[in-house]
Amino acid sequence: MSPTTTIQALRGTADILPGESVQWQTLEAASRALFARYHYQEIRTPLLEEVSLFQRTVGETTDIVQKEMYVFEDRGGRAIALRPEATASVVRAYLEHHLDKTAPFSKLYYLGAMFRAERPQAGRLRQFHQVGVEALGTESAFVDAEVIALLDHLLREWGITGHRIGVATLGCRKDKDASAAALRKRLTPLTQQLCDDCRQRLSRNVFRVLDCKVDRCRALAWEGGAVLTVCAECRRHFDTVKTLLKRSGVGYDDTQQFVRGLDYYTRTVFEVAHDALGAKDVLGAGGRYDHLIEELGGPHLGAVGFAIGIERSLMARQHHQAAAAPPASRGFAKRAGRAGGVFVVTIGEASQQPGWDLVARLRRDGVVAEWDPESKSLKSQMRTADRLGFRHVALLGAAELQDHAVTLKDLGTGSQERIPVDRLAARLNTAVVG
Ligand code: HAM
Repeated sequence: MSPTTTIQALRGTADILPGESVQWQTLEAASRALFARYHYQEIRTPLLEEVSLFQRTVGETTDIVQKEMYVFEDRGGRAIALRPEATASVVRAYLEHHLDKTAPFSKLYYLGAMFRAERPQAGRLRQFHQVGVEALGTESAFVDAEVIALLDHLLREWGITGHRIGVATLGCRKDKDASAAALRKRLTPLTQQLCDDCRQRLSRNVFRVLDCKVDRCRALAWEGGAVLTVCAECRRHFDTVKTLLKRSGVGYDDTQQFVRGLDYYTRTVFEVAHDALGAKDVLGAGGRYDHLIEELGGPHLGAVGFAIGIERSLMARQHHQAAAAPPASRGFAKRAGRAGGVFVVTIGEASQQPGWDLVARLRRDGVVAEWDPESKSLKSQMRTADRLGFRHVALLGAAELQDHAVTLKDLGTGSQERIPVDRLAARLNTAVVG
């Protein structure tokens, strides 16, 4: 590589530039505020985990574990994975820190990066970001319904509408075993028509044929309708969840057939679709996983949760906003907006250091303040103030310095007034938002 070759971000990863990071912050702030209302608390787990955590939970035969995990051997020879999802990590942390004893019913949320080596395309990245919740320690159907209602509420808080929630039940473990046996029976005579992967899946994890990337395998698996066996108790649980969703006014569709790409689910599963995404991609998804805590060495306790993809949600949000407003620029945002803040314009070398003092003082006093450290021409400074979106400029020339004052100009109205430096912060903090 020549020394002048530019280095670019890895395929499937993205830089989030200032104009966009503002939107991320909006989503993150709205999420935190809503999670607080539903009494969920934040958990932060490492991006690196032992590979075996995901093999044991997400499932050995899933695409995520077999084909998509970023795995490496660290200097100590340990097999490490970049987390492809967070549910397994949250359960590990819950047990490692004995929350199963001290706070058995824990309602937790997370925001962060996940990694899957998928083929990159719109809405499908190798480093992507999820917002998720996990309610651990209960089998109550009220919590399934709360989690789905929270998912719906969160999307609305983010300004997303037009999403469709599909719900289904996989039944309990016994039901899943019966369903797997029925599907295996149906597919065994068709073995020769399945892809190589699905022939393996037939004996190891037949459900994976249902979401094989090869259309033919999927068609064969779904042919003949639903394969799921659901016992009376699981049916009752699902009916309760649906009744509660109706009571909360959450619209759902329970007629769709979908499979989750992770093995740990039992009973309720759900997915959220949106027109802004391709047919195969969903905004968010989740479900109940009543055996995961036990499988990681804990007591028999149920749990349910969801995760939403932030990148896909931003696509859905822009889908709505596109008609109303031009798409957000990828350039630098007008940070302060016309609603506030001040750009201090220095005039001549003598006002540079007083300008520096004034900017520092304003910031200490709670005002968004900026200036041009290179003290370019007056015209250039005015242009910068305008480009950055400041509503006010404070001109600091020789006359102003003499009077310990500034000339405050409102770029929105064009009006200007002389204000003593001592009163400037108070004046700006009470400036009418326009
Ligand atoms: P998941 O369905 O694998 O579930 O992922 C949830 C969401 O993450 C997807 O709906 C999508 O929005 C986003 N996502 C997944 N892969 C990508 C990708 N390559 N690029 C962009 N976005 C992506 C889980 O991860 C489970 N842990 C959810 C859960 C929580 N179940 C129970 N608790």
